[in-house]
Amino acid sequence: VLPRRGCDHIFFVGFLGAGKSTLARNLGQMFKRRYVDVDRMVEQARGMSVSAIFSHEGERSFRRLEKKALASLASKRSLLVSCGGGIVETPENILLIKKMGYCVYLDGDIEDSLRQIRRSDTRPDFKSPEHAGNLLEYRRPLFQKAADLTIDIRGKSFTEVAYAAAELL
Ligand code: S3P
Repeated sequence: VLPRRGCDHIFFVGFLGAGKSTLARNLGQMFKRRYVDVDRMVEQARGMSVSAIFSHEGERSFRRLEKKALASLASKRSLLVSCGGGIVETPENILLIKKMGYCVYLDGDIEDSLRQIRRSDTRPDFKSPEHAGNLLEYRRPLFQKAADLTIDIRGKSFTEVAYAAAELL
């Protein structure tokens, strides 16, 4: 059993399409812990969808809102938190995550992410495989810096990933 850290939250980070929200939501049900999604918090705070914020106000505005939503979790306890794929690009966020709890990085393949991205409408600017690939290379060390536990999700079933993540719960 790990010593409590900060608010005792568990954060899930990883590239778009890694399955962070599904995992956090399911673990929340299994372990009776409340689950929140930082993207949904931003949407509620701004009254707009993430893609609308990106197209009308730009990424910088989104990142500001994202940081604020993350910081607001300091007054809560013991949450499972699904983070947007770009959360680690704001350096303060990595420190906030470390202060508030533990972090699981779902480390996957760019191919799987691209498949997911093609299916979603949230990030039209990610559709170029080259751009998405470069972004993943840039973010990987940042994810690793934030993480207390890295799970290589390649070829793993949902149950296997959930078992590995449960180590921190
Ligand atoms: C983003 C990923 C999205 C969302 C926003 C930006 C990114 O979250 O926060 O569109 O920069 O990778 P998911 O990773 O949950 O899709």
